[in-house]
Amino acid sequence: MKLLFLLGLIAACSAIPRQQRKFPDDFLFGTATASYQIEGAWNEDGKGENIWDHMTHTNPTVIKDVSNGDVATDSYHNYKRDVEMMRELGLDAYRFSLSWSRILPSGFTNEVNQAGVDFYNNYINEMLKYNIKPMVTLYHWDLPQKLQELGGFMNPMVSDWFEDYARLAYQLFGDRVKLWITFNEPREVCYQGYGYNTKAPILNATGIGEYICAKHLVIAHAKAYHAYDKDFRPSQGGVCGYTTNLHSFEPLTDSAEDTYATELRKQTDWAIYTDPIYSEEGGFPKDLVAIVAAKSAEQGYPRSRLPELTEEEKAYVRGTYDFFGVNHYSAYLVSATEHKLEQAVPSMYDDIDVGWTVDEAWPVSASTWLRLAPNSLLNVLLDLQSRYNNPVIYVTENGWSQTLEAGLMDEDRVRYYNAKLEECLDALDAGVRLKGYMAWSLMDNFEWMQGYTERFGLYEVDLTSPERTRTPRLSAFMYKHVITSRSVDQ
Ligand code: NOJ
Repeated sequence: MKLLFLLGLIAACSAIPRQQRKFPDDFLFGTATASYQIEGAWNEDGKGENIWDHMTHTNPTVIKDVSNGDVATDSYHNYKRDVEMMRELGLDAYRFSLSWSRILPSGFTNEVNQAGVDFYNNYINEMLKYNIKPMVTLYHWDLPQKLQELGGFMNPMVSDWFEDYARLAYQLFGDRVKLWITFNEPREVCYQGYGYNTKAPILNATGIGEYICAKHLVIAHAKAYHAYDKDFRPSQGGVCGYTTNLHSFEPLTDSAEDTYATELRKQTDWAIYTDPIYSEEGGFPKDLVAIVAAKSAEQGYPRSRLPELTEEEKAYVRGTYDFFGVNHYSAYLVSATEHKLEQAVPSMYDDIDVGWTVDEAWPVSASTWLRLAPNSLLNVLLDLQSRYNNPVIYVTENGWSQTLEAGLMDEDRVRYYNAKLEECLDALDAGVRLKGYMAWSLMDNFEWMQGYTERFGLYEVDLTSPERTRTPRLSAFMYKHVITSRSVDQ
């Protein structure tokens, strides 16, 4: 059915002269960044320590090039240059995140760091001077270390701490910020940070930590959403959403087994974090709930490792969104029987026991996990359209990495952006309510465990110069042209 629809769509699209396809006038073109990846000034002007400061300082070799975000692109001092770059590109919007511990050094709202508040006021006001809409993420992975010492996302109180912080942010910046995102990429927070050891705080509580975190995180999101909806939206009039990362998952063969394996992989990768919020019935995905409950019983646990949401919690979390934020990068082919990876440690992926692979013909970036696969973004957008009753969607991240050596003529990145932006036009033609697209990233920055070895920037950043000089790459000119013409060149 889906295949027929896609074929019809492709036929319809190829009948339209490509040049005539335009993005709507109110479509928001932007770029995205995150606080720890760009700000630097890790201990300046009263900022508190966060889990990335802590991990990179106490355990430096977990980062590929033994680097950290102490200075990064130094956007704390270079924010005016950042906004100048946004103007050079002609951006409609800019997505960035607040550093919780820059505003609240201990994480709690009893002590507010005015210098941190001033920094964000200046950043926001500078954007608004040039009519660039700020899209603000409240949490992009840099939890205050003091809250981690109290358990972080393993502690159910995290939802109250997060609500208090969110309320303060709405109160401080909501007169000017109209686009809010509560969380960025819950899978990386929960699975990589608590279940596994590939993001701070590297808890490595495999098969347990990620599930506990998922419950606490969706409740934290819902509390922040309800606070906005009830107490701030009436006077401020903005919208509040939630950003999840979705690769495209397609069955390796058209067998029923591979199709079901693909659904399980989706449930584990992203639907566990989105079904509670966006599905009609709420709660965690049913198959996953049943599988983890059965495996937990087999393993002798008295209760499931995946703590269910109560009926009351389900009702509280369901429907807490104004839009769906999609971060999209790559694609996988899923199999019920083949390509099962030997995991280094047991994890939630052992619960579903499926295999996955890629098509080697898909060009690969500097990040091993990121490939240019045909229609990967279109597949994801169509999947969300049908799974969640056509929600409003923003692509809140999409981009391509190269090594620094690849230089300023980043043709591979241009090819990737052209392909994915075409897919956005295809999605709009198919009735997806896509309202904006944020390229990742405005400039090269700290790529988490990969340090500075993988560069995602439209602007190259010279980390050897004290002022962190920014220079536009070919892709910056290409993106500027897309924004000006509101179309994609063939
Ligand atoms: C998603 C994350 O949100 C962002 O922080 C990261 O740098 C990009 N993906 C690229 O890996």
